[in-house]
Amino acid sequence: MPDRTIDLRSDTVTHPTPAMREAMYGAELGDDVYGEDPTVNRLEELSAERLGKEAAVMLLSGTMGNLVGILAQTRHGDEAIVGAHSHIFLNEAGGPAALGGVQLHTVPTQRGVMTPDAVEGALRDPRNLHHPRSTLVCIENTHNRDGGAAVPVQAMDTVADVAHRNGLRVHVDGARLFNAAVALDVPIARLVRGADTVQFCLSKGLGCPAGSLLVGDAAVIQEARRWRKMIGGGLRQSGIIAAAGVVALEQMVDRLAEDHRNAKRLAQGLNSIPGLVVDVDAVDTNIIMLDVDDQRVDPKSFVARLREQGVKIGSPYGPRIRLVTHYQVTSDDVDFTLRAAEHALDLVAA
Ligand SMILES: Cc1ncc(COP(=O)(O)O)c(C=O)c1O
Repeated sequence: MPDRTIDLRSDTVTHPTPAMREAMYGAELGDDVYGEDPTVNRLEELSAERLGKEAAVMLLSGTMGNLVGILAQTRHGDEAIVGAHSHIFLNEAGGPAALGGVQLHTVPTQRGVMTPDAVEGALRDPRNLHHPRSTLVCIENTHNRDGGAAVPVQAMDTVADVAHRNGLRVHVDGARLFNAAVALDVPIARLVRGADTVQFCLSKGLGCPAGSLLVGDAAVIQEARRWRKMIGGGLRQSGIIAAAGVVALEQMVDRLAEDHRNAKRLAQGLNSIPGLVVDVDAVDTNIIMLDVDDQRVDPKSFVARLREQGVKIGSPYGPRIRLVTHYQVTSDDVDFTLRAAEHALDLVAA
């Protein structure tokens, strides 16, 4: 057994910080289904304020936040435009179709960005009886499968303009939205100014054990609360979870820059090892996509050899290897990982 473990599979593997555990222990609680949990109320107010929107509702997960966001803004038979590599399309178990009767229409993304032409090209004709109704566009920022790409403000605004001009609403899957705002050095409220709803996760780079927020105007959040209840997401003393979320928003946002620096250095180091290829310039945030370019090396064996040395990585989305930095990965862990990668490659190529 290795005496050290570095878990780079995802930023979801993080454990709550000591400050979060303390806040959870001491959290003031009530019944949130009655709207009486002061800690949940505080987190929701803080979230809405940070994102420059009227209201927010806490949900258990990013998947639940996206689902409820979509359900609250569509009707059965509608169509939502989403990125072809988006988490909503690929990794949320078909929830919008299964539970909302919502068909997803995919458009390509390049580093998370949808072109206005692609969005316009996907719009259905509202007068044509053969067509479903286009009612929503979903943007993912940062874009997970596109390598943690931070979608710039202008690209967000452009898509929102096209959507609104055509009577559609805009939902942002911001599972890692704070990473995007930090990487782009733009106030988070500005980044999502054009969005009608935004889902962001507490349980990824921000280090919480669970929880997501859906923010938007008061009416859409009220509708989202109804859907949350319907799918069994109405919780009682959920201030236990919200307490960690408040700590996350107050203490864990600015430090994301450190994860981005670690990711960049890890990317540079990996790319300098013959046989490993990373597009270093494409590393905007905490996600690195790695390719093995050596005929002798089977990527699966490389991953297995790294694991023997205590470095956990994975290929959640096909042949490319993904590495994710987070607050439990130190600069020293980056050095260790680079040495381990070199060693693993030697062993597998031998
Ligand atoms: C971009 C994106 N959206 C949504 C989710 C779903 O979040 P959860 O795992 O909390 O349901 C994830 C999870 O990794 C994600 O990467």
